[in-house]
Amino acid sequence: MARGRFITLEGGEGVGKSTQLAALGEALRARGIDVVTTREPGGSDGAEAIRRLLLEGGEERWSAPAEALLFAAARTDHVDKLVRPAVLAGKWVISDRFIDSSLAYQGGAGGLGIEAVRAINAFGIDGWFPDRTLLLLHPQGAERARARDGAEADRIGGRPASYHDNVEAAFRAIAAAEPDRVRPVDASGSPEDVTALLLAALEDLL
Ligand code: TYD
Repeated sequence: MARGRFITLEGGEGVGKSTQLAALGEALRARGIDVVTTREPGGSDGAEAIRRLLLEGGEERWSAPAEALLFAAARTDHVDKLVRPAVLAGKWVISDRFIDSSLAYQGGAGGLGIEAVRAINAFGIDGWFPDRTLLLLHPQGAERARARDGAEADRIGGRPASYHDNVEAAFRAIAAAEPDRVRPVDASGSPEDVTALLLAALEDLL
């Protein structure tokens, strides 16, 4: 059985990842690929339980290192229970967020440093880095998310604009450092145009 592929969608708040996850899944299925879509934090029973711990409650619920370790623990369960078995069974797994969200949010914006956060995650995911990461960039993303979520924003989405600016800067730095894996995609066009750009950024894997 040929190994499948592991693709991740990344980006800040409000860049349209959920819409694109569904659209990209459909586009790949139309090409005869067996696709599983998933999301983080979450994607397995254990990781969904940890998701609630991370996103509910006040800012001071977790220290920065505890928050990073919880994300890494959720990710480890997600890889063990869903990502690795599906890819080894020949499927394409597409995840809405993965390790680069931790590098950008907890590492870059949260002040722990990208390398420290990469190290705790590398221990957990045991080599299961994505084959390709599509980084959605939208100039008004954070603004759109604030308008959409308002007072409903979760523990992390509700952090100040400066935090989200640092997330965006960290994502761009990661893409510049790992150009083979991470491909920036302009997400400001129509949903159809963005899906076409995402597919083009996967063309060499198809
Ligand atoms: P979610 O509701 O899935 O948000 P979005 O629609 O923006 O993807 O909430 C996930 C939140 O958790 C989001 O603010 C990003 C944050 N997050 C991290 O800080 N680190 C991580 O490793 C992951 C996966 C998410």
